[in-house]
Amino acid sequence: MAVNPIAPGIYPVGVIDWNARHFHGHTYSTKRGTTYNAYLIVDKKITLIDTVYGPFSDELLANIRAIVPPEKIDTIIVNHVETDHSGALPELMKHCPRAKLHGTAKCQQGLEKYYHEKWDFQVVKTGDKLNLGARNLTFIEATMIHWPDSMFTYLVEEQILFSNDAFGQHYATSERFDDEVPNEVLMEEAAKYYANILWPFSSLIARKLDEIRSLNLPLKMIATAHGISWRKDPGQILEAYGRWAANECQPKVVVTYETMWGSTEKMARKIVEGITAEGVSVKLFDAAVSDRTEIIYEMFTSKGYLIGSSNHDSGILPSMTSFLDFVKGLKPQNRFGGVFGSYGWSGLAVKQMELILKECGIEQKQPSLAIQYAPDAEGLQRCFEFGREFARIVKAA
Ligand code: FEO
Repeated sequence: MAVNPIAPGIYPVGVIDWNARHFHGHTYSTKRGTTYNAYLIVDKKITLIDTVYGPFSDELLANIRAIVPPEKIDTIIVNHVETDHSGALPELMKHCPRAKLHGTAKCQQGLEKYYHEKWDFQVVKTGDKLNLGARNLTFIEATMIHWPDSMFTYLVEEQILFSNDAFGQHYATSERFDDEVPNEVLMEEAAKYYANILWPFSSLIARKLDEIRSLNLPLKMIATAHGISWRKDPGQILEAYGRWAANECQPKVVVTYETMWGSTEKMARKIVEGITAEGVSVKLFDAAVSDRTEIIYEMFTSKGYLIGSSNHDSGILPSMTSFLDFVKGLKPQNRFGGVFGSYGWSGLAVKQMELILKECGIEQKQPSLAIQYAPDAEGLQRCFEFGREFARIVKAA
């Protein structure tokens, strides 16, 4: 395969996973597939930046072989331990056993625990440099973006930041750069990626962005480990990360519910009418049939969350339980919430959802709305007013 360099002597050798439909187990649905990007720098020291997911090891080796024999690799930069980036190492190291790995101390520990091998490893920290011959690398630790071991690598001469997970997207396409794909799709996938993977680490990301700014690194390109890299306008994604890390959102509402016999769904639909009547944008999702990744993406940009469930046994219906558990892990901040649902003889689901909002730090400004069995006309009117009131709260925030 002919490989076009991304800059003189720097070759993309990663792979496209066209059929990936799930990521992180089944926690993230990747409808556009994904890529595992790796880069080969041909200099006095032949250097590989990151590898790929293990099942694609042979493809990575073939891509490297198209440029240099893998045996000639001197240096491997491991920006991140997670197996979508390091999984090919065991196979690769059979071909270049004397290659020296470089990564953070946590990276060294993580690789040992994953692969149980004793590879030659150089621990690096922020500010450390590595001369490759005509080029120089500088390392920047990036703790929790996305794991404790994560780091960025900056190529001084070409002004390229190899950012690994940060600024990436799950977006499989033969194009490599931001000027080659529709910006709307690119930014949607970048936001979805941030929402579903990086949202809980927003305060750390805000600090890291400040640090990057303070380093005053000239940036011609951000080369990511997933999806599209940024060469036309690296500032666009840096600016977006700044807004996302600051928990910026819009006066919109997401209503997510699960229903047993349709009563909670009737409530949800009437609540949506109330929200709409106030002129506030709203999205409605049935947690039992909806793609959770898409719900989280909508919640990421919305100020208000309404959650509803019929009572089932002694609590919330199972799809809602699983959904809310996921939301808890994302630690949304600066949001308002509300609770509704129908019940037969025990109103425990509503009480439990109130507690979950509290645990998430999502402020509830109006009493929950619980209706026994099915809502009648008066009950539906209460739902409508409940929606209206919530929309007013969101607009006023
Ligand atoms: Fe793409 Fe945190 O791995």
